[in-house]
Amino acid sequence: MSNIQEQERQYIINTYNRQPGVNPLLVKGEGALAWDEEGKRYLDLLGGLAVNAVGHCHPRVVKAVQEQVATLIHTSNLYYTAPQVELARILVEQTFGGRVFFANSGAEANEAAIKITRKYAGLTQGPGRFAIITAERSFHGRTLATVTATGQEKYQRGFEPLAEGFRYATFNDLDSFARRVDRETAGIMIEPVQGEGGVYPAEAGFIQGLRELCDRENLLLIFDEVQCGMGRTGRLWGYENYGVKPDIVTMAKGLGGGLPIGVMLAREGVDATFKPGDHASTFGGNPVVCRAAVEVLKILLEEPFLEQVREKGELFKNGLLKLAKGYPGLVREVRGLGLIMALELAVPLASAVQRRCQERGMLINAIGENIIRFLPPLVITVEQLEQAIDELEQVLKEAEAGEPS
Ligand SMILES: Cc1ncc(COP(=O)(O)O)c(C=O)c1O
Repeated sequence: MSNIQEQERQYIINTYNRQPGVNPLLVKGEGALAWDEEGKRYLDLLGGLAVNAVGHCHPRVVKAVQEQVATLIHTSNLYYTAPQVELARILVEQTFGGRVFFANSGAEANEAAIKITRKYAGLTQGPGRFAIITAERSFHGRTLATVTATGQEKYQRGFEPLAEGFRYATFNDLDSFARRVDRETAGIMIEPVQGEGGVYPAEAGFIQGLRELCDRENLLLIFDEVQCGMGRTGRLWGYENYGVKPDIVTMAKGLGGGLPIGVMLAREGVDATFKPGDHASTFGGNPVVCRAAVEVLKILLEEPFLEQVREKGELFKNGLLKLAKGYPGLVREVRGLGLIMALELAVPLASAVQRRCQERGMLINAIGENIIRFLPPLVITVEQLEQAIDELEQVLKEAEAGEPS
C-alpha cells in the first residue's frame, strides 16, 4: 500500500470504498487519457462521471482558469463580476430565456429548483402546494431534500426522517405520473436520460405527455440535466432530443470543465419568484469557475462539435451492439443517447469487467451487478472509441471463457 493509500484510510471517511491496489492513484490527465503514479496510461471512458466533458485539462479551459486565478479568485456575491454575468447570458441565450441561479454542485442546483418550485406554487396557487413528483430509479443528489427526491430507497436508508413533499411515479409511464397528481402537487422533476439509475433515456411520448400534464395542471416541469446536459447526448441539452422545453433546468458536472459548478435556470415568470434573501451560495458563480464554464460552452458550441458527438455516439453504440450480438449469453441490452451509454449484462459480472478493463488500461463504471456505464469525454476520438470496443471484446471473450470473476 502506498503512503497516500494508507493516509486516505486514516484521514478520509470511507464513503467511496476505494480499494488500495484496485483503484489507481491518478496523477495526470489529457483529453480522454489519464495516467497513474506509476506512469500507466488509461483510456478514460468514465470521464470523471460526466464531468470531463471537454476532456482532461483542455488547454483553453486551463488558460482561462490560469488567467482568472491570477486576476481575481473570489469576491462575495454582494459584488458584481464579469465572468458570472457572461456565463449567465450564454446559458440564457442557449436555453429558453429566463434567468439563472448559481450554485456549486448538482444537488445544490436541484435544491434551488425544489425551493423555487415550492415558492412559485404557493404564490400562484395558494398554500398547500408543495409536492414534487419524481421518477423511480432517478438520482437527484445526496442532500436531505435531493436524496428524498431520488427515487431509490438504497440512498435514503438510515437518514430518516426524510424531507416531506416527494412522491414517486414510474419512469416512461405517463399514467403513473398523472395518477400521482393531486391538490398538493407543485411540480414534476425528471432526468431526460436517467444516469445513475442505469442509463435509461426517456421516450418522446412520455416527455411530451409530461409537458401537457404540467400545462393542464399548472405544474412546473423540471429537467435535471446535471448528467445528460452539456452536450452529453449530442445536443447541448438533453431536452432538445424531445422538442420539449421545461420550466426549470438544472445543470452541473461537465459545465465547469472539472471545476465545481451548479446552475438552476428558470424560465421567465418563474425566475422572479426568488427575491433578495430567498436563496444564496457563498461560492456560487465564483469567477474562476464561471470563466472555465464560459470556455466549456464556447467549445461545445463550436461547429461541428455536437454533430461529432452524435456521430461518435452512433459509432460507439454500433460497436456495443456488435458485442451484444457476438456475446448474447453475456450482454442483455445496449442503451443510451450520444455519449452516455450502457451495456446491461445478462450475468452479474459488471464489477469484474470493470476491474479487468482497468487492468488492461481502460476506466469504465459498473452500476450494480449488471450494468456498465460509459461517460467518455466528448472529445474522445473515433480511434479511441474503436480501441475501447476492442478492449471490451477481449474482456467479454475472457468472461465467456470464465476468466474474470
Ligand atoms: C442527474 C443527477 N442529478 C444530480 C446529481 C448530483 O450531483 P452532485 O454530485 O454534483 O451533487 C447527479 C450526480 O450524479 C446526477 O447524475
